[in-house]
Amino acid sequence: EKGGYDHFMLKEIYEQPSAILDTFRGRLLSNEAIIKMAGVEDNMKKFLAADRIIIVACGTSWHAGLVAEYIFEDLARIPVEVEYASEFRYRNPVITEKDIVIAISQSGETADTLAAIKLAKSKGAFVFGVCNVVGSTIARETDAGAYTHAGPEIGVASTKAFTTQITVLTLIALRLARAKGTMSSSEFRQHLIELETIPSKVEEALKSDAYVQTVAEIYKDSKNCLYLGRGYNFPVALEGALKLKEISYIHAEGYPAAEMKHGPIALIDEQMPVFVIATKMGHYEKVVSNIQEIKSRKGKIIGIVTKGDKSVKELADHVIEVPETLECLTPLLTTIPLQLLSYHIAVMLDKNVDQPRNLAKSVTVE
Ligand code: F6R
Repeated sequence: EKGGYDHFMLKEIYEQPSAILDTFRGRLLSNEAIIKMAGVEDNMKKFLAADRIIIVACGTSWHAGLVAEYIFEDLARIPVEVEYASEFRYRNPVITEKDIVIAISQSGETADTLAAIKLAKSKGAFVFGVCNVVGSTIARETDAGAYTHAGPEIGVASTKAFTTQITVLTLIALRLARAKGTMSSSEFRQHLIELETIPSKVEEALKSDAYVQTVAEIYKDSKNCLYLGRGYNFPVALEGALKLKEISYIHAEGYPAAEMKHGPIALIDEQMPVFVIATKMGHYEKVVSNIQEIKSRKGKIIGIVTKGDKSVKELADHVIEVPETLECLTPLLTTIPLQLLSYHIAVMLDKNVDQPRNLAKSVTVE
């Protein structure tokens, strides 16, 4: 059942190329330069009339929502707010009929997310679900939706659900961008062609596994770790930190790289590994200067960089390469080595990777 892998988590990490392919199969038609998603098409008027999109989710799905915020605003120019479902539901939030609420949930059973969509519906908002489990409660309670088609995710730590959620949300953003005219047809086509190459680029990113293991060996006894990113890769930093916390029980925090100087830089010393996502596209020079600040305080730097990178390589203690892609698609690649890193550290520390203590796969109580 684990297909020759030691753990479901590793199997699911390695399934990502095919899971992402399954997510856009039949939806992304690059020859015809169209995206076909019934849940979006049937409700296009509502999407185009929306004042804003509110994304509600928990945990890793909330991180996918944060990536989607960048994509929707950047490509489709629709204002987006991303909310923890647990906070949103109790805040007496301002919601109107002109809002679209997108609920993201792998299991489709998360109690707080379900309560958030019920609240949104009661205020007249149109609610769209992005779920993995077909026929799940959230999938049934929403007005429309799009499944991720990642296949069953058994490991408690979410991996392929995250990358396929981002894939679905990217498809939706691109479809809306085209409908709204915020993207030219050639840009649109370029994005479709590039998105189609992602499964093979994820495959290539997975080849860093052996090197990631050597990095894991070096840092596995750390008491704390920091994860930094900017722009599209800020949520990836949060997700990297969550993956490490939940399966290895090492304290980790994700931050937008530029926030370091507002406090967390005080934590830096020679004991502190700092994982910095520093891909070539987007804010590269700024991230390089953030790395210099950490280095001058003797922090250990592990860079997640674009293949062929030079500047970070000169400064960092280690670099892990991912293939080049469009900036908005980088999270689909930079996430991969961070998943592998958490996995290997947890295995080396002899933790229960697939069923970490105190956690359940679906959180049906608040
Ligand atoms: C982390 C993880 C959790 C879930 C969260 C939401 O690896 O799995 O943080 O992402 O409990 O679950 P879903 O997506 O099922 O609503």
